[in-house]
Order: sequence, then structure tokens, then C-alpha cells
Amino acid sequence: MKTHWYKDAVIYQVYPRSFADGNGDGVGDIPGIIGKLDYLKDLSVDAVWLSPCYPSPNDDNGYDISDYRGIHPEFGTLDDWKALRDGLHARGMKLIMDLVVNHTSDEHPWFVESRKGKDNPYHDYYIWRDGSNGRHEPPNGWGACFGGSAWEWDETFRQYFLHLYSKKQPDLNWRNPKVRQEVADICNYWLELGCDGFRCDVIPQICKTFSADGKNDKNICADGWFDYIRELGERSWNNYDTMIVGECVGVDHKMAPNIHGEGTGLLDSVISFDHLPWSRNFRLPRWKEIIRRWQTLPEHCWWSQYWENHDQQRSVSRFVKPGFEKMGAKMLLTLEMFLRGTPYIYEGQELGMVNIKLCPDEFMDIQSVNMLRGAKNAIARFFKYRHLLMRARDHARTPMQWDNSPNAGFTTAPTPWMKVNPNYTTVNARTEAADPDSVLNYTKRLLRVRKGFVELLKHSQYTDLAPDSRRFYAYRQTVPDDKSLVVIALFGKTAKHFSLPEVLRGHQSRLVVSNNLNAPERLSDGRFLPYEVRVYELGR
Ligand code: NOJ
Repeated sequence: MKTHWYKDAVIYQVYPRSFADGNGDGVGDIPGIIGKLDYLKDLSVDAVWLSPCYPSPNDDNGYDISDYRGIHPEFGTLDDWKALRDGLHARGMKLIMDLVVNHTSDEHPWFVESRKGKDNPYHDYYIWRDGSNGRHEPPNGWGACFGGSAWEWDETFRQYFLHLYSKKQPDLNWRNPKVRQEVADICNYWLELGCDGFRCDVIPQICKTFSADGKNDKNICADGWFDYIRELGERSWNNYDTMIVGECVGVDHKMAPNIHGEGTGLLDSVISFDHLPWSRNFRLPRWKEIIRRWQTLPEHCWWSQYWENHDQQRSVSRFVKPGFEKMGAKMLLTLEMFLRGTPYIYEGQELGMVNIKLCPDEFMDIQSVNMLRGAKNAIARFFKYRHLLMRARDHARTPMQWDNSPNAGFTTAPTPWMKVNPNYTTVNARTEAADPDSVLNYTKRLLRVRKGFVELLKHSQYTDLAPDSRRFYAYRQTVPDDKSLVVIALFGKTAKHFSLPEVLRGHQSRLVVSNNLNAPERLSDGRFLPYEVRVYELGR
């Protein structure tokens, strides 16, 4: 049934709240997305990953679901969703839905029932536990991702329930076979409706093991995990031509071969985390080494390659020094497109959108808000604020910059749900469409060029050509006895000379793409501009 179409694809992530507002209420919605389908087609992306659009109290912007089979009224109706599906399919693009089944919202009817009594059939859908040592203390020391303990006390049962995220996101109990069947039914519901796969939220965390003394408790790929995923594949995923990509929190390259891969019935692809450095001052050799590890996994592994998503700061702000945003944005996109795996473009990345400077009371994300609220004093608050200015998830969630009209053309409402980045007057889709040298037009060119190399990239072997260089990232994708690709990029704000390694000399070569209009047509030694990238095709 599976054609593994995702191996040829570039995926575009839409965060519906921030993409395009079709009804003028200040919040992005599905009709808004439908209005931009030609834009996506023109970009040449092959699939859209839609972040959650289900009914939700929005404690975590939709990652707290209260109905798995509906559409949040803020975003439209199921008919709107069907029109989106049809619009994408008519243009040859696939639709991937977000599957958030580690937890539900506490307003989901299952949890509401679960709280009604220990004999309620839904009680065991969640993880209820006594306090440690019979006392009113959390069962173990797990912290919740958004601050505080992962355990919330319930006075009625005099027990705790588990929430690895906010206390409005109780964790489902995957040990309960009924829960696993519910999840399979939900997947089949959307697959029957014509969705093409799932991006599985925090999937390694779905099951937990608890030890007697709490010291060996586990919540990443805990016992049973492989069986449960395989079972879900058999009951659902494997019966359709799907892409199943796991957001693999806590998984490193060593674990990856076991949890994904063709023919194993597990995940098709892995979204990793360790390849994203925390600040602009990251060490290039170390970063390249992490990417090398992911690129050189066994053939059956398939990486999901990204620099940005709705949880991350903007890549230009993370990797590029101020003043070099445009070159830097193009360079990063280029590096990404020629790595082996499925590349993801997060909305606005194709424009070179950057982080926003927010005041403390302008952060909207639960993680940022809780962090500032939790500061014990003014100094702590100052440091937390500084941290958020660089790393908050809010940076990715500012409205998409469509044009230079008020609110960047995102909404006709006087106030969008979140502040628009003031740089929209120059960084926006309409202005960039008219500028041949823009990040947008470069991205379009890049994606078209990439299509000519998807076969090569499916089977290529990766070599880091300058692993110790602190300024150059140079890699080669080779298929034995065939052509290869060489990508060379300069990090940093001063120009620098690149000397070709011996292995690259004496080949026929052809420039495939570069962000420098004057880049030489043939691979050679030479001086690179700050953040310049060049891609060459080499003959045998
Ligand atoms: C990962 C999602 O990407 C993030 O946005 C969310 O807050 C957590 N999972 C919890 O669902």
C-alpha cells in the first residue's frame, strides 16, 4: 500500500492560527489557507503538515484537543477541511494532520468522565496514581514541560493524574487497550476522509513504565512502545499510503534505527532535536558532527530535516549574525534541501522571517507566560525575559507576512491574535515576489532545482568534507559510480577563502544553485562571501 511518496517530498508546515485569516476575526483559519493554495503550489512544495485544527480550549494552542473528529470553529468547519483537502489534492499536494495522542485536553469528554468515579469506564483512560509513600507528594520527580510538577492532585480521588505538558493536558493511559483502539479509530477516521499521514506529537512519550521506588521510571520508548506502535500501524497506518512521522523527543541517532524504517512497521521518519543549537554562538564542528550522525544512519532510516517549526525560534535569528539575514536565509534553506531526508519549510521561512522583539506582556505562548510568571524576583524575571527574546516559541507564531498593508495582510481585523513583526513592510510575500533576488524567489528556484536530485538524495552517501572547519560547512552526497552533489557554505560575517580538498579536484562540475549571482560556474578554490553557499553537480 505504501509508496513512500514522502521521500520525494518537501513538506510545508502551516500553523493555522498564524497563516491567513479568511474571516477577519484576527485568527488564521482554514478558508484563509485555501486562499493561499496557489501560493504553495507556486512554491513547489509537495505536502502540507497542518498543525492541530481540532476543537480545543487552546491552553497550548490546539495541542490540547477536546474532540479528535472535529474542526475548531475558530478555524472553520469539517466542510472547510474537506475543501482544503480537495484543493491540495487537485494541485498534487498531500495533507498531513497532527496527531496529538500522548494527551488530551482536560475538557475532552474522556477526561471529564474519567474524573467522575473510579468505576467510570473512562477512568482508566488516564494515568492516576497514589502519592509517593502514601503521602500527599507526587508519585515521582517528573517535571512538566511547561513548568512545575508533572503530577496534579485531585481532591476527589485523593490521587494524582499525570500531565507531561500543562495540567490541562492529562496524559492518556496507553496501557489500556481501549485507548489504543480509540487512537486507531481516530487515525482511520481521518485516513478515510482522505488525509495522507500524520505527524505524531511527542510519540516516544506515549507509554510510561513506573518502578517500585520511582527511580527507574521511564517515559521515552518505555516497555511496550514498539508493540503499541506496530499495533497501530496494523490497525490503521499501514493500510493506507501514508507518511507517519514521529516528533521524536528524547531520541538520538543511536535509537533512531530501531524506531523507524521501511518494513519494520514503525515510523517512516523521525523529527529529531539535537541538531538545533541553542544560540548564534554555536560551534560549527560540533553541529556538523551531529548532522553527520543523522545523515549516515543505515539506509532504512529517513530523517525529517528542519531548521524551523512552531516550537522553534526563526532559523535566521538562530544561525546568522545581524545584517546578513537575506544571504543567511538562502544559505540555510540550501543546506537543508540537499541533506538526505524529507525537508520541511515552516511558514515564513521561505521569506526569511526573523524573531520578533516582544515586551514581557506580549508573549502569548503558555511556556513563555509560565516562565515569566514563575520568576521569583525582578532579576530572575529579567533573565527569563532575555532568554525568551532569543528562544521563545512565540517567535515562530507571529502572523505570516503576506504584504505591506496593515497587519501584513494577515487579517482585516484591527488586531491580530498575536503581534505582527514590524519588519513586514520589507519582508513579505508580495514585495518579495516582485524582487528577483528575494529569499522567496530563491526558495522557489531551489525547490525546483532539488526536484532534479531527489533520486540521488534517496540513495546518496554523505561525507563531511571539512569536519574541523569552524567557518565552512562543506558536504558531498555521492551515489557510487554516479554523479554527486557538493554543497559548500560559509558561516560568519567575513569573507573567506575555501581550498578544495584533493578528492574534489579533477572532476567535471556544474554550478547548480548559489545565493551569489557571481559564483563560479565550475567548482574551484576561491573566496566566499559571508553566508555564501554554492551547490555543484559533479560528474563521475
Ligand atoms: C510538541 C508540540 O510541537 C508542541 O507545540 C506542544 O506544546 C507539545 N508537543 C505538547 O503537545
